Amino acid sequence: MKIVTIVGARPQFIKAAAISRELRKRHQEILLHTGQHYDYAMSGVFFDGLEIPAPDINLGIGSGLHGSQTGAMLRGIEVVLLSKPPDWVIIYGDTNSTLAGALAASKLHIPVVHVEAGLRSFNRRMPEEINRVVSDHLSDLLLCPSAAAVANLTAEGITRKVHLVGDVMLDVLNWAKQRADGKPMEVLKRLGLNEREYLLATVHRSENTDDLERLTGILNALNALDEPVIFPVHPRARKAITGGMCRLQPHVRLIDPLGYFEMLAVTSSARLILTDSGGLQKEAYWLGVPCITLRDETEWVETVEIGWNTLVGSDCGRIVEAVRSFTPRASRAPLYGDGLVAARCVGLLE
Ligand code: UD1
Repeated sequence: MKIVTIVGARPQFIKAAAISRELRKRHQEILLHTGQHYDYAMSGVFFDGLEIPAPDINLGIGSGLHGSQTGAMLRGIEVVLLSKPPDWVIIYGDTNSTLAGALAASKLHIPVVHVEAGLRSFNRRMPEEINRVVSDHLSDLLLCPSAAAVANLTAEGITRKVHLVGDVMLDVLNWAKQRADGKPMEVLKRLGLNEREYLLATVHRSENTDDLERLTGILNALNALDEPVIFPVHPRARKAITGGMCRLQPHVRLIDPLGYFEMLAVTSSARLILTDSGGLQKEAYWLGVPCITLRDETEWVETVEIGWNTLVGSDCGRIVEAVRSFTPRASRAPLYGDGLVAARCVGLLE
């Protein structure tokens, strides 16, 4: 088969790493990077570290308002699909690159497979939610990470070609753990961190970074903590933080975004995670680190139900209280599959 894989943003490079490796054993893959993320720290470092083949095509679209960014991607992807018509187009997750891929392919009657289908926050103010709903309704094969995702699709009338496969990010985590072998401690040393004696924070969702009240609540909470906080900062958040009025205390350390292996090390050794990232909520769970989610809802409801994740939104008092008192349950059942998801996805394509 000939397959065009569309990626553009950091979490998509991670997911594609596992599936591309499996796909290329037997099929021809054309890897199309929209260029949505373009800094080395947001893009290249993942291709290098996770041994993802260099993109065959990079549209170099870069940043922009939703309409112009998505529109430019749609135009660029359509040209590629017309010149190299594939058997399938693979899209991942919920970014503008996902949406553009789904629209371009479906209008050309090329079957679309959506990896990480069916997730919902039920909050249409999130651009990601709009991207998910539209992409799912345009997809021909829907690969879901959880039973809740399958149920969400059923509730929207999508029942055909829906498969519960598990989460491909666990494949990547397991692969990376084997490769890391002893190296993790280097990054802790470089950053001057001791195991379980710091908190890891990440914030990048527009609902937090573009809303001054929410961002201030989160930053005030970090300032009020009495433990070191390491904060690898997404460019979107850096712009908002440095442009805002809130000064960070010295125990809150903003650092550049980390590559996959370094992030894995810093995550697994943290005492606690504070985040609005979807991927990090799951990684925290798999690595046995309690997670405080800086959102009002999550797509990864199982991590909350099972007692390892708590939703606190952006209220300063609630965040500080959760950091001091949140205690996960003793047990941690397997969640989101068995780490053999990439092979299952490729099998379903075949
Ligand atoms: C996107 C996705 C989100 C995903 C996230 C992962 C959409 C609507 N959102 O949000 O679902 O969880 O990626 O990180 O697609 N920027 C840089 N350098 C880069 C990339 C971005 O400076 O390499 C800046 C841009 O200039 C812009 C901001 O970061 O100001 C946001 O970039 P954008 O492309 O909108 O995506 P994310 O916010 O990262």
